Amino acid sequence: MVASQEVHAPIAVYPGSFDPIHLGHVAIVDRAKKLFPRVIVAVLANNEKNALFTPEERLEMMNELWAGDERVEVRSFQGLLVKFLEEISSTIVIRGIRAVSDFEYEFMMALMNRRLSPEVETVFLTPKEDYTYLSSRVVKEVVSLGGDVTGLVPEPVRLRLEERYREATHPPTS
Ligand code: PNS
Repeated sequence: MVASQEVHAPIAVYPGSFDPIHLGHVAIVDRAKKLFPRVIVAVLANNEKNALFTPEERLEMMNELWAGDERVEVRSFQGLLVKFLEEISSTIVIRGIRAVSDFEYEFMMALMNRRLSPEVETVFLTPKEDYTYLSSRVVKEVVSLGGDVTGLVPEPVRLRLEERYREATHPPTS
């Protein structure tokens, strides 16, 4: 044991857009919890024009999901991920890889983050088999076309999705 080195319980950061969160994401958080004592799920809050939910709405849904789980915290971040990691004294990024098609983008991101901050390590986790085809984009498309996503997103998220698309087809009148 190296007595002079301070040992910190590592905080892992799972960043993403989460527009909206689906059960594939939740399964990655569950896996990350097996490896790390604390997981921060970090929502990129860049107010993207094409996003379905605002960063605040996404945070609200995710906070609801992990309320009562003291090992998971939901935070938002803006700008560079490595800056956020520095702010919270973390060097560990969690990302899920569903298929080979994810690899190139994930590899590029991991190497760029390492270049920006050499101590940052990216840990790739694989999702539950049932969720390998799942993405926020597909979930939104299915709901927008009237399909049922029960069992693919947390129930409160499904209700919010259906409500959002109902509002879009029948905007509230004053
Ligand atoms: O869920 P996503 O959209 O695949 O998540 C991508 C995310 C948010 C992890 C990535 O875009 C990101 O980290 N953005 C912050 C900006 C940044 O640090 N860019 C440099 C790394 S490529």
